[in-house]
Amino acid sequence: MAREQWGTKLGFMLAAMGSAVGLGNIWRFSFVAGNNGGGAFLILYLLFVLLIGVPLLLTEVSIGRKAASDVVGSFQKLAPKTPWYLTGFFGIASAFLILGFYAVVAGWAIFYFWNYINGSFFTSPEVGYEGAFGQFISHSWHPIAWTALFMILTIVIVLSGVKKGIEAANKIFMPLLAIILIGLAVFSLSLDGASEGLKFLFQPDWTAFSNPSIYIAALGQAFFSLSLGMGAMLTYGSYLKKENKLPSATLGIGIMDTFFAIISGVVIFPAVFAFGIDPSSGPPLVFITLPSIFEQMPFGGIIGLVFFFALILASLSSSVSILEVPTAYFMRAFGWTRFATSVLVGSIMFVLGIGVSLGFGLWSGVTPIGDLNILDSMDYIASNILLPLGGLSMALLVGWYFKKSEALEATDMKNGLLGNVWFIIVKFIAPVMIILIFLNQIGVISL
Ligand code: PHE
Ligand code: NA
Repeated sequence: MAREQWGTKLGFMLAAMGSAVGLGNIWRFSFVAGNNGGGAFLILYLLFVLLIGVPLLLTEVSIGRKAASDVVGSFQKLAPKTPWYLTGFFGIASAFLILGFYAVVAGWAIFYFWNYINGSFFTSPEVGYEGAFGQFISHSWHPIAWTALFMILTIVIVLSGVKKGIEAANKIFMPLLAIILIGLAVFSLSLDGASEGLKFLFQPDWTAFSNPSIYIAALGQAFFSLSLGMGAMLTYGSYLKKENKLPSATLGIGIMDTFFAIISGVVIFPAVFAFGIDPSSGPPLVFITLPSIFEQMPFGGIIGLVFFFALILASLSSSVSILEVPTAYFMRAFGWTRFATSVLVGSIMFVLGIGVSLGFGLWSGVTPIGDLNILDSMDYIASNILLPLGGLSMALLVGWYFKKSEALEATDMKNGLLGNVWFIIVKFIAPVMIILIFLNQIGVISL
């Protein structure tokens, strides 16, 4: 059977942007920035997106398009008889870890949407928004039921196939989310805490740079947010026709993703200070902050409803790109149908999600890494370790294994200034930076 392909280049762009823009921009960006001192983190994050993220995004998509295969098969095809294909298995492992917790957080978003449908979050519940959220996530099975619903939606889109399912779903949701977020940002700026929030986000506290974990946090956020390093972009690239041009497409994805992150920072942090919320509240941060904003706004109930609807759709367009990575691999390697593969893989991810969800209640004492709970541990391994390692491996393949002319051809670049800058980044700068950040994290060097 012929491999599937995108209908149009716009279809690819929307799907790749849909993959990038998701909970990472709103939920993860805010709490990681909040945990890591705001402004200092933002500077590093932007630096890494520009210097490592976008060049490697181009690299990753080009690997997929050149090989026209899944995340394991692409490395086997382009670098036969080398261990490079192991990158693919790292990517598949990351997909299980990431969707395992992504589906739980997206489930929380569906629960919020439901509370705006039935009106119970229009005004603060008796225990407050923070209290209501705490009760909900620690419940034994309520959050798991919402996770299940989100996983089912993800599976249904993926089993409908590349063009019909994934491509169609993205065209409406992204613009809608952008419009609501801009509106929310304007409102947030009118709150009493606005200047304090903006200071926190944009004015770096220079002493924060001496904390080694801020570097790995910013690197991990750049990779997670750009859907980079696990093969989601590679797999989407593999459905591209040869005539589509890559550099402008990947730059567009990077700009769009960064725009969504900054704008959600402008929504969240003024409100965090206005409502006296602790910026380092961790994963619950936006789920406590947002309803307090909506409560203050005229027509806040309706806006909250539309916002959470758009957030669910943005999450879906990301989750399908995660599920697609192992699905494409197992379909090819074992000859399974798309239907059976996506149901099986999605179900295993759901089981992981049950563990993640219990980590906020029954299993809240379980801390696999240091004092990190189950969600934070899975996130740490995937986002801060596996994704950067995947990106490093892709950079080494294209920078060192390929000939320069081959690398330029794969990315539609000429041997001019831009092509050379990109190549030097991929060959030297990005790998060195990633390795330095790892060494700094384990204490071998000190940045
Ligand atoms: N980039 C997505 C987001 O920001 C999450 C994601 C990570 C998607 C890794 C695919 C691969 O929500
Ligand atoms: Na993102």
